[in-house]
Amino acid sequence: MKTDILYSSVLNTLQQNLSQSALNHSTATAIAAVEIATVYELDADEARLAGLAHDRARDIDPQKLIELAEEHDLTICSVDREVPYLLHARLGAVLLSREFPEMSQRVLDAVARHTVGSAEMTDLDMVVYVADMTEPGRVFTGVEDLRAEIGQVPLDELFCRAYRHSVAHIVATRRRIHPDTVSVWNSVVAGDRS
Ligand SMILES: [Fe+2]
Ligand SMILES: [Fe+2]
Repeated sequence: MKTDILYSSVLNTLQQNLSQSALNHSTATAIAAVEIATVYELDADEARLAGLAHDRARDIDPQKLIELAEEHDLTICSVDREVPYLLHARLGAVLLSREFPEMSQRVLDAVARHTVGSAEMTDLDMVVYVADMTEPGRVFTGVEDLRAEIGQVPLDELFCRAYRHSVAHIVATRRRIHPDTVSVWNSVVAGDRS
């Protein structure tokens, strides 16, 4: 099946570009994404591919992330410059689009949106975001609650709870908030979820 060939090709690229721990996280996220997509009756193959690919640029060093982001004309704000790691999501999508022209825009968007998110998250974007946060290797206070809520609340509510956790963590650790995070959060709560 075509999806399987693409999955294998992406896995091969990740094996050449990621540390073993990041690779383990990527494959675990792919499995988690399949489970979440299945629960919400979404395309599991697409979720598996996006989950696998999401951290394509995660192990690129900070200076190189900025250089590559500039090279590919990505918008870079002051917070991106202070925390270049944030660029790995959007840059990962750019690299994947070059390496795998057959990869769908839906998958590329899910990769690009897995860190800061987007004011217009698709179901696939939300699946990957939550899978990234809840795969079995993740350890943080509240992760068990999030895992338990998969399938128990609507997907957008699940994403709201996951994103709320991310925003709270940024504030608790006194780090700067990416301006897009504010837009995403405002969009998330506009739906009157709490
Ligand atoms: Fe990531
Ligand atoms: Fe990740």
